[in-house]
Amino acid sequence: MDATVATLLSEARAQLAGYSPSAALDARVLLAHILGKPETFLFTWPEHAPTDSQQRQFREWIARRRDGTPVAHLVGRREFYGHEFLVSPDTLIPRPDTELLVDIALALLPDNVPQRVADLGTGTGAIAISLGLARPQWTVLAVDFTVAILDLAERNVRRLGAANVQVRQSSWCRDLPGQYHALVSNPPYIADDDPHLDEGDVRFEPHSALTAGADGLDDIRTLIAQAPAHLLPGGWLLLEHGHDQGDAVRALMSAGGFHAVQTRRDLGDRERVTLGQMPGSSDAQ
Ligand SMILES: C[S@@+](CC[C@H](N)C(=O)[O-])C[C@H]1O[C@@H](n2cnc3c(N)ncnc32)[C@H](O)[C@@H]1O
Repeated sequence: MDATVATLLSEARAQLAGYSPSAALDARVLLAHILGKPETFLFTWPEHAPTDSQQRQFREWIARRRDGTPVAHLVGRREFYGHEFLVSPDTLIPRPDTELLVDIALALLPDNVPQRVADLGTGTGAIAISLGLARPQWTVLAVDFTVAILDLAERNVRRLGAANVQVRQSSWCRDLPGQYHALVSNPPYIADDDPHLDEGDVRFEPHSALTAGADGLDDIRTLIAQAPAHLLPGGWLLLEHGHDQGDAVRALMSAGGFHAVQTRRDLGDRERVTLGQMPGSSDAQ
């Protein structure tokens, strides 16, 4: 009997059971992508028979998914803040938790006045592009430190039409031109020996996007030390961090001369983003 959408999905669910926590969803996303159809097609046309080459590709992807390859790496994209981003194994797959950082930046800065914002460690460009698309009157600089990542971010800028986002190579603030109303970052913040690095999608993501020294705070320390020279008076630093790093990040920001230091919680009620403001008034900017 020819394989149909229904039989392929059921075969895939059985193969992924115990290997993926989202076996049914993974199977649907992968098959819909291969067919070039929305997921609703799979429910509407369970008797549809994919071509031989589509079946071959689906079975190959299910085998790779069973070995742990992230769905986003198989389909080459992931949605973030309502936009579809190209992804690659060179950097982090954008996470839903990071949408909080975008929400806070959008609420913090005036929306009707031009603002200069830099996203440090931009990866796919997810944060910078989401900010740029939401606030066309802002100028957003997206910074990362390898050419392959900058190329990926640049392709996302072009695909999504974020004309006010520029991409530039810099190690954190080292080659950052000028001063900004806000610096935002989701830097690496996992401890080098964290056992979670051996689980799930992170096994397929580069350590350069994930880990930051013995306590996971090395890059956060660098950012807090470098940021003041690149912030305008009254400018803000916003950092995503691990749920158990809030105390440490608040202490580092306060010691670094930031005011109004505060931590916001994510939807799971975990401390997720800490922000602090440079002294001085932002009125004259
Ligand atoms: C946790 S990932 C975040 C990626 C993206 N901003 C996101 O939220 O999906 C951290 C990013 O920081 C970049 N990075 C690591 N060290 C860096 C450095 N010294 N200077 C600039 N970027 C760096 C990595 O290449 C990676 O893209």
